[in-house]
Amino acid sequence: MFNKEIYIDRRNRLRTQIQQGIVVLLSNNEAPMNYPSNTYHYRQDSSFIYFFGLQLPGLVGVIDLDEGKDILFGDDYTIDDIIWMGNQPTITELGAMCGISYVQKTADLSARIENALLKNRKVHFLPPYRSDNQIFLHKLTGISIDDIKSNASVELIKAVVALRNCKQAEEIIEMDKICDTGVKMHLAAMQNCKAGKIERQLAGLIEGMALSEGNGVSFPVILSQNGETLHNHNHEQTLENGRLLLVDAGAESVSGYSSDYTRTFPVSGQFTTKQKEIYEIVLKANMESIAMAKPGLRYFDVHLNATTIIAKGLTELGLMKGNPVDAAKEGAHALFMPHGLGHMLGLDVHDMEDLGENYVGYDEYTKRSSIFGHASLRCGRELQPGFIVTVEPGIYFIPQLIDLWEKENKFTNYINYNKVREYIGFGGIRIEDDILITQEGCRVLGTPLPKKVTEVEDIMTYNTK
Ligand code: GLY
Repeated sequence: MFNKEIYIDRRNRLRTQIQQGIVVLLSNNEAPMNYPSNTYHYRQDSSFIYFFGLQLPGLVGVIDLDEGKDILFGDDYTIDDIIWMGNQPTITELGAMCGISYVQKTADLSARIENALLKNRKVHFLPPYRSDNQIFLHKLTGISIDDIKSNASVELIKAVVALRNCKQAEEIIEMDKICDTGVKMHLAAMQNCKAGKIERQLAGLIEGMALSEGNGVSFPVILSQNGETLHNHNHEQTLENGRLLLVDAGAESVSGYSSDYTRTFPVSGQFTTKQKEIYEIVLKANMESIAMAKPGLRYFDVHLNATTIIAKGLTELGLMKGNPVDAAKEGAHALFMPHGLGHMLGLDVHDMEDLGENYVGYDEYTKRSSIFGHASLRCGRELQPGFIVTVEPGIYFIPQLIDLWEKENKFTNYINYNKVREYIGFGGIRIEDDILITQEGCRVLGTPLPKKVTEVEDIMTYNTK
């Protein structure tokens, strides 16, 4: 974790955003896999990490806005816990690590909340995404379980989003480092890709690298020759020459920050002409988006430009027709790219998605589009220095979607279905980097990960010898 001054400062900055009431932030608990003591890999709640830095279960942080006091609630480990888990810091010691001198037992929390409610003070909490915390908040506040989420404090959500959306210097250092781990994972996947291997061998290799440099992967590895399935977690296929392999993976740092990269490369180490033609369109959309992104520009406009590049490229290849600018605006490109250009990145891969995507990626000036494809853009708002977003255009040939659109005669003015049918079985291509919006424009985080055709083929050369 960072030094305690960082967390004191973050809580003080929260106080400048939201003036009255009592803020209750819950840590995540251990989650059982198949019996209570056999738990999933522990992941702390990201807002808890942001304000307190502690990555342990069973804690509640209270920021009392009216009293100007921060309190850490939790229970010291018993001798039974220590026998199994070794010596653990006390709650007092944990409080000191994040600059909190008031600590209390968990059992004392309900009296404090009850007291605040009796005085009609506002109790602010974030929308819980785990059922145990939903139940905990229900018991604490008396709000029915079904109503807990809708009673989350919008004022607190907006305040947290305002703070976490703009990354500070110490966060950017962490992001650069964990991006470097992501780069190493992807280079290893390229260098170890060989026909005859099973996809899981590569997935396991890069997952192990993420664990050896941090908390593990930042989301389950997506690695598949069926790259047309956007989030394909099945790794059972044998790698075959002639096919493309899509790898979407990143790592999480010990401090909780995430990286997220996608590369697509030929199993054989050499792109075919057909693969290269599609790849170059996606690469152009990726590189032009990075060249374009800057403060003051809406990310929706960068996304729209990327989808126009996709539509133009596909028109040149004869898969689309008509005016590509209009085609992208109206959503015809979405047959090939049904997702958005990117999302916020930080402590979460989809940063703060638990708080509500529209609070994070949209605002009063930029509302989410309702057009299929454009509607999937997770972040459309005006970019500001300190934002970290992914840039991940793609082209996919999804047989079921092609069948459906053709049956519905959808966008027959823009799509040459006969030509598109020639690409069934092609798979999908996505190229993704992580960028930091700076004062002047943006920069790619981490050591650049090769993505040009010749660069990728060069890295893979020795596999094919
Ligand atoms: N790269 C995985 C995701 O965006 O969900």
